[in-house]
Amino acid sequence: MAKFLVQKSGPLKGEVTISGSKNAVLPIMAATLLTEDKCEINDAPDLRDVEVMCKLLESLGCDVDRKLENNSVEVIPGKDVKGEAPYDLVKMMRASILVLGALIHRTGHAVIPLPGGCAIGKRPVELHLKGLKAMGVSIDEDKLSRGIVDARADQLTGNTIYLDFPSVGATEVVMMAATLAKGTTVLENAAQEPEIVDLASFLNKMGARIKGAGTDTVKIVGVDSLKGVKHSVIPDRIEAGTFMIGAAITKGDVLIKNVVPSHLKAVIAKLSECGVAISMTEEGMRVRGDVNPILATNIKTLPYPGFPTDMQSPFMALLTVAKGPSVVIETVFENRFMHVGEFNRMGANIKTDGNAAMIPGDKVLEGAQVVATDLRAGAAVVLTGLVAEGMTEVSQIYHIDRGYENFVDKLKALGANIMRVED
Ligand code: UD1
Repeated sequence: MAKFLVQKSGPLKGEVTISGSKNAVLPIMAATLLTEDKCEINDAPDLRDVEVMCKLLESLGCDVDRKLENNSVEVIPGKDVKGEAPYDLVKMMRASILVLGALIHRTGHAVIPLPGGCAIGKRPVELHLKGLKAMGVSIDEDKLSRGIVDARADQLTGNTIYLDFPSVGATEVVMMAATLAKGTTVLENAAQEPEIVDLASFLNKMGARIKGAGTDTVKIVGVDSLKGVKHSVIPDRIEAGTFMIGAAITKGDVLIKNVVPSHLKAVIAKLSECGVAISMTEEGMRVRGDVNPILATNIKTLPYPGFPTDMQSPFMALLTVAKGPSVVIETVFENRFMHVGEFNRMGANIKTDGNAAMIPGDKVLEGAQVVATDLRAGAAVVLTGLVAEGMTEVSQIYHIDRGYENFVDKLKALGANIMRVED
């Protein structure tokens, strides 16, 4: 199994270019199933999750041509799409469920096994299914109780659907399903993440009629068919946020290129509260941790535009060394403090109580053997490794490979002392 060896490093300095968004490209790839034509997706990051989605689309009968040299993926779903997703692929990536909304249109019968809960929580799909049922899809409840989504529909019909929680995945699945449904769908309490807006703009280019994506009410007027298009994926705001914290925690000075600052308002606000100097230049976002001491702050994760749950563990890395105590409250996932144990191995002395973590701050961390407990937690322990005394050994880095393109090379180019070793 591969590992990262991270040594205490000096301030990160230089430029980093952010890759296309993982959480935008996956639903967009799933949405290609809504047409028979060729779709070309550019700025598709070279990530394990993207590779799994390519394999999943191939297993469903699509022709997929992934060109790593220019980060593009071409998908030609063609006429013969199959309705059954193989468990071997689905278990590798929970986002596989995203194909459901499109697949049901192409096959009338879609079968997708669900992987069990994951480290950060149960991650149910009842909201995705509630939306589809409201549009006339029937779900085999017996199979569902055994962890298999077996969905049938000859024709989907638009409806008004209220999501009890603004789930990103449910919003995406319902939006895709509604594009080709008969009549109008109104999705209330929809997720508002930038990745939803990117999916809607891809679907609208294909010929869909979607309004309101990025607000809590999305209106989708069904159309008869969709066509193949070209699309470039938005930059990854979570990758950008991770490098912003890299600059802050090492007291560095980093220019972040290919970033949309409006996608990062909450992260910019909180880092500014901590004393990080953030400015926009013509070339990108300059993040300086060398201007002021890093101060404590409190964080509460919320659906967008609130503070992103995916930035919670990287931000906690910063708070372990900030001046004074901080409190972090996680409201999106029920079990997203796995990284606390890893930070504590390095001397962070964090206590948790339910969904709250109390971080004393002011710590001089020490390198240790730690585990990437999930994708973002993996990036977070790498960040603490950059400022911990001595060597930090990070195992289970396949989690990090799922979501950070060229993580080691990008960090090294900024002066980080990190290497990947194969055991
Ligand atoms: C997406 C992102 C993930 C991010 C998350 C929240 C992708 C591929 N992944 O995941 O990186 O951390 O949004 O910003 O885009 N829930 C239910 N019932 C449901 C659906 C969700 O209770 O039917 C709950 C989940 O258990 C979780 C919360 O809602 O506690 C958020 O989940 P959701 O927004 O659906 O996240 P994902 O789409 O899985």
